[in-house]
Amino acid sequence: MNLAGEFAELAPELSRALENAGSLEELEELRIDFLGRKGRLAAIMAKLAKIPAGERPAAGQAANEAKEKLGELLGARKAAIEAEQEQKLLADFDPTMPGRAFWQGSLHPVTQVMEEICLIFQKLGFDIAYGPEVEIDRYNFEALNIPPDHPARDMQDTLYITENILLRTHTSPVQARTMLARRPPIAIVAPGKVYRRDSDLTHTPMFHQVEGLMVGQGITMANLRGVLLAFARAVFGEATSMRFRPSFFPFTEPSAEVDVSCMICKGKGAVNGKPCRVCKTTGWVEILGSGMVDPNVYKAVGYPETVSGFAFGMGVERIAMLKYGINDLRLFFQNDIRFLSQFGVDA
Ligand code: PHE
Repeated sequence: MNLAGEFAELAPELSRALENAGSLEELEELRIDFLGRKGRLAAIMAKLAKIPAGERPAAGQAANEAKEKLGELLGARKAAIEAEQEQKLLADFDPTMPGRAFWQGSLHPVTQVMEEICLIFQKLGFDIAYGPEVEIDRYNFEALNIPPDHPARDMQDTLYITENILLRTHTSPVQARTMLARRPPIAIVAPGKVYRRDSDLTHTPMFHQVEGLMVGQGITMANLRGVLLAFARAVFGEATSMRFRPSFFPFTEPSAEVDVSCMICKGKGAVNGKPCRVCKTTGWVEILGSGMVDPNVYKAVGYPETVSGFAFGMGVERIAMLKYGINDLRLFFQNDIRFLSQFGVDA
């Protein structure tokens, strides 16, 4: 057979081979076999140089035709395979199937309650103030009328970093910092983390507080009571009642612990005839500590004696537990998604 004949044979051969080629991979193998650098077309072309010059033009033309035809055949098969694959994809695709639901996260319940508390006070005209968690003795204790030998330091179970630097044991140092930085009138709430060397069923080494401070002219305990009652009713419901119990804090005088009527038994001391465990049948639960700012604190921050004001501080975890009827503090820190998701956007 002359070379032209050999070239002409290639296309029908590829045609037959293509009938069995079902994938793009097989197609690529055939392309290499026929059109590749060491393929069958190339092998025949290598012989071109050895034939008599007179036969070359015809053989050359046959080579070009063969090359073109092979390309066409491969191209046509490729288009057919791709169309087939697309059909299959479309057949498998069910546009009526529901989409995949996304897991939507939410703020931690303690964060949510802390924000809620702050918002209530913001609506009453309070600003938000922040202070550092790593604090110095002066702001955590000294300026708050807690001298080095004061027994109240024991209450605080302080985590010290050096003799003078510590993790703040309460948010009250923000009071001192704010008064040193600003002149009265002042109305702030200071949310944040606090730390104590304490760990058992009802205490964690880190927890959250919101501090409140209002200082100006002629501010009295009646103002304190009014602000706190508005707060308690916003958090626990309009039916909430409130009482002050005399107490002691070095930085307030007089001081009071504030109770609200038990939100579980509605102040009755019992639920369905069973003693209420949240208020231990008293009908009252403590929610915060408060008082009129002690004159010694004004002295420490250089305020005139003519100002007056009140301060209060509350534990956010405690408020959250009472608000949601949570009986185990540890739930807030285990980060079990089954617990946390109950405080999600749709919960
Ligand atoms: N700092 C006090 C505590 O941590 C709470 C408090 C703040 C009491 C402000 C009175 C006034 O227990």
